[in-house]
Amino acid sequence: MAFERAASVADLVEGKGKQVTLQGRKIAVFLCDGKFYAIDDTCPHRGAPLSEGECRMGQVMCPWHAARFDLATGKALCPPAKSDVRSYPVQVNEQQVYVDVG
Ligand code: FES
Repeated sequence: MAFERAASVADLVEGKGKQVTLQGRKIAVFLCDGKFYAIDDTCPHRGAPLSEGECRMGQVMCPWHAARFDLATGKALCPPAKSDVRSYPVQVNEQQVYVDVG
């Protein structure tokens, strides 16, 4: 378990995600309502990149078929997604965003 640098704060735009690769995994990092989040970047429905979805109120909407996920927990909130995604701890230090992918 260790936090790794994922992005600069300046790389992230409110309401949007950014794909990063950490330990060979595609991770979606979001800035949503002023908070940073990290979840797996692959929608469990058909594999869309969740980093391309819009986020607000702590949720991201899949860009392909509009399933929504809770950014803090990764929980799938509505169909067509039937399973959750993993969420990861995030820390911000000196304008850098760190994610612990375990
Ligand atoms: S690929 Fe995400 S809802 Fe279909």
